[in-house]
Amino acid sequence: MVARKLELMRRYDETAGFYDRRYEDTQRAKYRMITKNLPRGSKRILDLGCGTGMFLEELCAEFVVGVDASPEMLKVAKGRARGVALVRADADALPFADGSFDAVVSVTLLQNMPNPAVTVREVARVLNLGGVTVLTVLKRKYSREELEKWVKQAGMKLIDSGEIEGNEDIFCVAKL
Ligand SMILES: C[S@@+](CC[C@H](N)C(=O)[O-])C[C@H]1O[C@@H](n2cnc3c(N)ncnc32)[C@H](O)[C@@H]1O
Repeated sequence: MVARKLELMRRYDETAGFYDRRYEDTQRAKYRMITKNLPRGSKRILDLGCGTGMFLEELCAEFVVGVDASPEMLKVAKGRARGVALVRADADALPFADGSFDAVVSVTLLQNMPNPAVTVREVARVLNLGGVTVLTVLKRKYSREELEKWVKQAGMKLIDSGEIEGNEDIFCVAKL
């Protein structure tokens, strides 16, 4: 991993112990919007940048995987998300074959990435044909137009995008 990514990972490691206390309410409001947009019956779901696993415990599927770069965030996730596979990996280089997932969710990860367009391309790679992704990003860092552009550049069809009411993130829903 490049230096900037390693530095960020260390920062998230330091945050892991108090992350839920500080961010739970705001993150769970995002999950409510995402869950509404996920197709029912998705069998294989990836939560990219899963952090402490708050969303993982809400996701229902035969196979749920959480990926994060921070060992300390994953340690917290391990304690809460039962029956879920947790993988430490860089979101830009996922250790999964093409078309591995029916749905990919990623909540407040993209503003951390050096080139979010590359990350979104990786999301598209691991989605199967017809698969759906719901992505969110901090709106103080990126615009809705930028998020839409990354999705289209990755070869996905935009279904919806907008602001999450009263929240710090913008979102988009897209299909491969
Ligand atoms: C703002 S937190 C969001 C966590 C979680 N999605 C949530 O809803 O609370 C961003 C997460 O992205 C992870 N992350 C940052 N850079 C990453 C990378 N290059 N690859 C994978 N995960 C990364 C961090 O470790 C952190 O857990």
